[in-house]
Amino acid sequence: MALYSEKVMEHFTNPQNVGKIENADGVGEVGNARCGDIMKIYLKVNDEGIIEDVKFNTFGCASAIASSSMATCLIKGKHINDAVELSNKAVVEALDGLPAVKIHCSVLAEEAIKDAVKDYYERSGIAYDPVTLKMK
Ligand code: FES
Repeated sequence: MALYSEKVMEHFTNPQNVGKIENADGVGEVGNARCGDIMKIYLKVNDEGIIEDVKFNTFGCASAIASSSMATCLIKGKHINDAVELSNKAVVEALDGLPAVKIHCSVLAEEAIKDAVKDYYERSGIAYDPVTLKMK
């Protein structure tokens, strides 16, 4: 069996939503101390709390790039409260799996989104539940 699924290869070789959003409403950045990889997520959120646009810059491995691409596809057009529910497990499932040693790369995507959402709340002065990260 190939190490990476076709979905992983597809999102690695042709990643979606790559780049930066100027005047983003929220920016999240996380790094993995073990491998040194860094992921940055930019959100554009409308008045209804819908993520109208999302972009990412990932300096990392193939799995981190594929995870960022898939995660941004999964949250685009969604409400912030749904986006914070996205787990790394859901990202891995959508990618048809990742090798066990690469699961931590998908965690980076989940964490970067949550970090960007927190930044959005703080910049916009929106009250949120610190545990669920959902807006109140
Ligand atoms: Fe670092 Fe994949 S090895 S994020």
